[in-house]
Amino acid sequence: MAGNRQVDVVVIGAGAAGLMCAATAGYQGHRVLLLDHANKPGKKILMSGGGRCNFTNLNTTPEHFVSANPHFCKSALKRYSPWHFVDLVERHGVEHVEKAPGQLFCADSAKDVLRVLLTECEWAGAQVQLNTSIRRVSYKDPGFELVTSEGTVACRKLVVATGGLSIPTMGATGFGYQLADQFGLKVYPTRAGLVPFTLQPSDKDWLAALSGISTEVVAQAGGARFAEPLLITHRGLSGPAMLQVSSFWQPGQSVHVDWLPAVADPRAALIDERQQHPNRSLERWLRQYFSQRLAAALVAQFGWQGNLQQFSNDRLGDVAATLKGWQFKPSGTEGYRTAEVTLGGVDTDAISSRDFQVKEVPGLHFIGEVLDVTGQLGGFNFQWAWASGWCTGMAL
Ligand code: FDA
Repeated sequence: MAGNRQVDVVVIGAGAAGLMCAATAGYQGHRVLLLDHANKPGKKILMSGGGRCNFTNLNTTPEHFVSANPHFCKSALKRYSPWHFVDLVERHGVEHVEKAPGQLFCADSAKDVLRVLLTECEWAGAQVQLNTSIRRVSYKDPGFELVTSEGTVACRKLVVATGGLSIPTMGATGFGYQLADQFGLKVYPTRAGLVPFTLQPSDKDWLAALSGISTEVVAQAGGARFAEPLLITHRGLSGPAMLQVSSFWQPGQSVHVDWLPAVADPRAALIDERQQHPNRSLERWLRQYFSQRLAAALVAQFGWQGNLQQFSNDRLGDVAATLKGWQFKPSGTEGYRTAEVTLGGVDTDAISSRDFQVKEVPGLHFIGEVLDVTGQLGGFNFQWAWASGWCTGMAL
């Protein structure tokens, strides 16, 4: 493979956005070369959604994305909707299931989505070349020259689809940010998103023993609010509720948890229960809503032992306030090692929202997660990868 080559389009990164872009550009009649340093394409697709890939969300709106420029994603999301991707996978015979409202997963395996994309690349004549490190990229008017471990490649258009920093063991690098920097683009500081929280010792002491327990909560941080399950792990707090708020949380802030969203006014409910069953324990009441282990741990942690008749109205008010408004200050997050996404990234102000071209560098495009556009949990990140990849592929 070593030597000098000339193609129309080079796409760097054979992940979700890069594969979609390469296939779409190939269908436009371009000679497309898709390069990746990894030994396999689409590794994150394969590990996503617990191996079933939550490949889109039918309810996608721009409000499901975090970005310094919340308008940037609108155009692409409108032009390439979730239904376009559903249509694509259905044409390839992929069966899918809607696990939660709007969230579509493969019925069988995430491999099906990767197979669709690789087949599309093949049909479109886009060449996928793996195990290729890119050593240098330079602007050679009217195009680019890439010096790679497998030789030099010249192209008219260069698409950067190298993703974010999450899961370095899957091939994630900061290469896209370095290229952005090289071409004079601003890069917003990055941090791990959709990531479990780690705990201060005082919280970890009682929660770690409850590892594996999941319960429905309403979690809030940084102005965002999510009604989802919380999962206690031996390292900290996870589950959809925590992953979602982690993308809005800033270090040093508290996270607010309503452990009992099912009961609007627990104080009134407890006073009523005390009247009906004064000899019953508070723990017994809690067991209506929580597992036995969690109910017992809440009682032990907050000193709620005893029968309800021993609780004054004020004390029941305190119990209710704790259940509805528990706050904890995470010691941090598990970081890029387990994060599903990377917040921050290439500043979208410098990029056209129609064709993802850098306004000041004709022929250079950035797509997917490398940009400062991060979706919430639930298939939105892949929808962003498909939409930005398709719009760019059509425009090259
Ligand atoms: P992506 O990361 O997919 O691809 C980037 C590619 O660039 C990789 O192939 C990488 O090897 C390559 N690359 C990086 N540096 C390079 C370099 N220097 N040279 C050459 N190549 C380089 N989203 C969702 O919507 N639904 C879901 O179910 C999940 N589940 C999920 C689970 C887990 C565990 C993770 C980590 C993430 C998810 N996500 C998700 C998020 C989703 O995977 C992510 O947003 C997209 O894969 C982003 O697509 P990109 O193509 O932008 O990057």
